[in-house]
Amino acid sequence: MAKSFEIDKLPRHVGIIMDGNGRWAAHRGLPRSYGHKMGADAFGRCVRHAKLRGIGYLTVYAFSTENWNRPSEEVRGIMDLLRSYLKNADNYKKENVRTRVIGDLSQLDEDLRQMIVRVEENSVANDGINLNIALNYGGRDEIAKAAREAAKRLMAGEIALQQIDAAMITGGLYTAGQPDVDLIIRTGGESRLSNFLLWQSAYAELIFTGTHWPDFNGEHFDRALKEYAARQRRMGGV
Ligand code: FPP
Repeated sequence: MAKSFEIDKLPRHVGIIMDGNGRWAAHRGLPRSYGHKMGADAFGRCVRHAKLRGIGYLTVYAFSTENWNRPSEEVRGIMDLLRSYLKNADNYKKENVRTRVIGDLSQLDEDLRQMIVRVEENSVANDGINLNIALNYGGRDEIAKAAREAAKRLMAGEIALQQIDAAMITGGLYTAGQPDVDLIIRTGGESRLSNFLLWQSAYAELIFTGTHWPDFNGEHFDRALKEYAARQRRMGGV
């Protein structure tokens, strides 16, 4: 299956909103935490699959700025899944994944913050795929952060007002230096962006699927890539 896949137009940057863990579990009479656990497995599968397909950048929405509103036990469960993923730092060398965690990390537990720093440092030379894990991430917060940085430079007299343009805001995002997102896949049946990569997705193709995230696999991924390749992107042109 994997080897015979041929596609002429591959997205450089794919974003995934991994939705439907809770419902996947509820449909099976299982606790939501189990859905997240299976979601973490699906995440690992998809990183490997994206790498196999030659996708340069993958950004996954692991935890939004709004997700703190969930019961504390569920929040702890998701953070623990992230901990166990990050703990496997050695695997990154083997798997050749360059990992970054994007979002407002200041609100995270100290141990998690340290793990993130370590994993980012340990994976810096990996060039198989660039993985961004969006954690305590919000698209509007990210744009506001970039605007504040530009305003700071303006107030310091480093730049003129006219120099604050789209490129400068892009450069102030967590994803600075990375290509815009070409394709966003959202599982779980909802058709919205939920504050994910708002600036970077200006021209992204959006694919919404009813598949719940724990069920999402390489075949689903390939289907989305084929649909992406079949779409005509005009980027405002004709
Ligand atoms: C959305 O499903 C999913 C989340 C808010 C958490 C995503 C987390 C993981 C996939 C596991 C940890 C991630 C990593 C990177 C190791 P939902 O709970 O909103 O599902 P529902 O809409 O069916 O309730």
